[in-house]
Amino acid sequence: MAVEITPLHPTLGAKVRGIDLNRPVAPEVFAEIEAAFHRCGVLVFPEQPLSDEQQLAFSCLFGPLEVNPNYAGAKMRLRPDIADISNLDAEGRVLARDDRRNLFNLGNQLWHTDSSFKHIPAKCSLLSARELPSPNPIGGGETEFADMRAAWDALPEARQRKLERLIVEHSIFRSRSQIGFADFNDEIFKQLPPVQQALVRHHRYSGRTSLYLASHASHIVGWPAEDGRKLIEELIAFATQPQFVYQHRWTIGDLVMWDNRCTMHRGRPYDDTQRRVLHRTTVSDYANTLEQEELVGSSAA
Ligand code: OGA
Ligand code: MN
Repeated sequence: MAVEITPLHPTLGAKVRGIDLNRPVAPEVFAEIEAAFHRCGVLVFPEQPLSDEQQLAFSCLFGPLEVNPNYAGAKMRLRPDIADISNLDAEGRVLARDDRRNLFNLGNQLWHTDSSFKHIPAKCSLLSARELPSPNPIGGGETEFADMRAAWDALPEARQRKLERLIVEHSIFRSRSQIGFADFNDEIFKQLPPVQQALVRHHRYSGRTSLYLASHASHIVGWPAEDGRKLIEELIAFATQPQFVYQHRWTIGDLVMWDNRCTMHRGRPYDDTQRRVLHRTTVSDYANTLEQEELVGSSAA
C-alpha cells in the first residue's frame, strides 16, 4: 500500500495513511515519513493502536529516547522512557482534581515545546491516544500546535534582525511557577538547572528559520529580566495567532508526532473526572541549541 500524505492546515501538519506502525517500517517508507515530518512539522497517523513496545520501536527510528525524571516525586505509572500524559495515578485511578500531580500536568496547557528546559532539548515527541474523555462544554482535551516557522516568516525583516542571536534562559520552574506549582524535590532542582537556548533556530533538514519559545522561557540573557519576559510574552502571543495554529481533535488510536524544534503545542481543557490517557515517547536532539546555532561563547551568553 502506498503511503498517503494529506495536509491538515495551510502551513503545518499532515495526515499519514497507508502504513502499519505495528510492523517494522521499511527504510524507503521511513525516508518518506521523515521527509514529510521535516516538511510538515506535525504528522497525524490515524488508526494506529500501539503497545508501548511498538511505540518505542517506531520512535527509536528518529533518534535516542529521553528518560524522564520523576518530576512530581510520586510513584510512576509507566516506565521512565514513556511520559505519562494522563490524569491517572500509579494504580490507574483518576487523580483527584486537587492532587498536586494534576497541578503539575496543567503545565501542558501552556504553550511550550518539550524539554527546552534541558541542556539538550527534545527533537520530536510521539503521542499515542489510549483513552479519551467525551467532549463536553469545558472542551474535549484537544492538542493545539503552532507553526514557529510561519510565525518567523511573518515578522518584519527589521524585527527578525533584532531577534537573531538572542539567547534565552529556560527552566521547568518558570513554566510551573506560572500555574502555582512550586514543590519540586531537591533532586529535580539539581538535575534540571536553568539552561540557555537560542531564540531563533535554523532547521537542520528543512533549512527553515523559526522562533524557539516556550512557557519554560524565563528571560533574555544579558537583558533586564522584565524586558526579556515582556519580549517572550509578546512573541508567544504573536506566534500563536489562529493562522499559525492547527488544532488536533483526538480519536483513540491516533499517533501524533511533532517537531519540537520548530513548533509549540498545548493541551486544551477537558472534563478531568473522565479518563484521558496518552503515552508519549520523546526523541532527544543531538546538541544544545547554542551549539547548533554556533552561539557558544557569543557576547550575549
Ligand atoms: C505533551 C503535551 C498536551 C496534551 O504530550 O507533551 O504537552 O494535549 N500534551 O496532552
Ligand atoms: Mn508537551
